[in-house]
Amino acid sequence: MISFTWPDFIYYCSNSVNLIDNFRMATILITGGTGLIGASLTELLLSKGHKVIILTRNLKMAIDKQSADERLTYARWNAEEQSIDRDAIEKANYIVHLAGAGVADKRWTSKRKKEIVQSRIQSSGLLIKALKDIPNNIKAVVSASAIGWYGPDAIPPVRPGGFTESDPSDKAFLGETCRWWEESIQPVTELGKRLIKFRFGIVLANDGGALAEFKKPVQFGIASILGNGKQVVSWIHIDDVCRLIVYAIENDKIEGVYNAVAPNPVTNKNLTLHLAQRMRGKSFIAVHVPSWVLSTMLGGMSTEVLKSATVSAEKMQQTGFQFLYPQIDAALNELIKR
Ligand SMILES: NC(=O)c1ccc[n+]([C@@H]2O[C@H](COP(=O)([O-])OP(=O)(O)OC[C@H]3O[C@@H](n4cnc5c(N)ncnc54)[C@H](OP(=O)(O)O)[C@@H]3O)[C@@H](O)[C@H]2O)c1
Repeated sequence: MISFTWPDFIYYCSNSVNLIDNFRMATILITGGTGLIGASLTELLLSKGHKVIILTRNLKMAIDKQSADERLTYARWNAEEQSIDRDAIEKANYIVHLAGAGVADKRWTSKRKKEIVQSRIQSSGLLIKALKDIPNNIKAVVSASAIGWYGPDAIPPVRPGGFTESDPSDKAFLGETCRWWEESIQPVTELGKRLIKFRFGIVLANDGGALAEFKKPVQFGIASILGNGKQVVSWIHIDDVCRLIVYAIENDKIEGVYNAVAPNPVTNKNLTLHLAQRMRGKSFIAVHVPSWVLSTMLGGMSTEVLKSATVSAEKMQQTGFQFLYPQIDAALNELIKR
């Protein structure tokens, strides 16, 4: 007997128009597949019957962690040395390009900023060189970008729906990084391959990223509202991120840039209070962390944490994609229950 969970049912109904036949048993090469998004995406792809090759700089560490599933393999690459496993490119049908030094992992010194940019540009360059030099059957490349592309919300707002994909990049560090990142992967289209660039919002997941940080003080009964808490957070549930990537791969009509955010962004205060209520009921106190404290703790990164960025999901929704978690309550409920 085939059994469906509700999310599966919605997924199959809403996205059934796609080219499942073309996509059956494909091999997907994921750069940075050992990370937060890559790990969940790998699980989803394997559950759908596909093969996954993860390109990693640390082959030994990745293989040590390897599950028993023989459809998951690892291959080595190193963008600094411009070396890549030839076999992986030959075998793959699709590439999902997620690799890059963590934007929020360390303080933004000038050395770290260089690493954040270079790790993305060099790795895109290496992929493009490999696609030119190595005979391959790759149909499409899905590349990560980020909503850091956009600047802060205008006051008063220019468009209530938020930033759309045609808005220009911000002039601050993250905006410039995203522009260089997107430009660096663009030559894929000159090779006759379909290219999809996702500007990911703040990915909410249990295994790392922003939510793990938001949860830490809540575990001690403190809901830490950042600054005045009015800044808008354009978030997305990890399952929707992975479903979006699969949707883009499966659907030949999806091409170009898309915001990957849930359709209902929330303020930082709202998100923090929802999370605290879900985790602790009424037994927490809400505390505002002043901007100057954040600035002392985080340095330049604090401007991003305090930035209000309302980003529109409309372009993706117009393709027919249905979010499993359009609202923050359901998204947080699901993650906390998991
Ligand atoms: N998570 C979010 O909220 C979010 C939001 C917007 C955009 N994004 C972007 O989406 C992509 C995937 O996100 P994620 O959260 O899964 O990232 P992640 O957990 O930090 O994983 C990224 C992977 O990139 C590789 N990597 C790290 N440093 C690198 C370097 N210096 N050079 C080359 N590769 C390096 C690592 O793989 P190996 O060590 O195995 O090589 C790592 O597992 C990232 O580019 C991220 O910036 C994420």
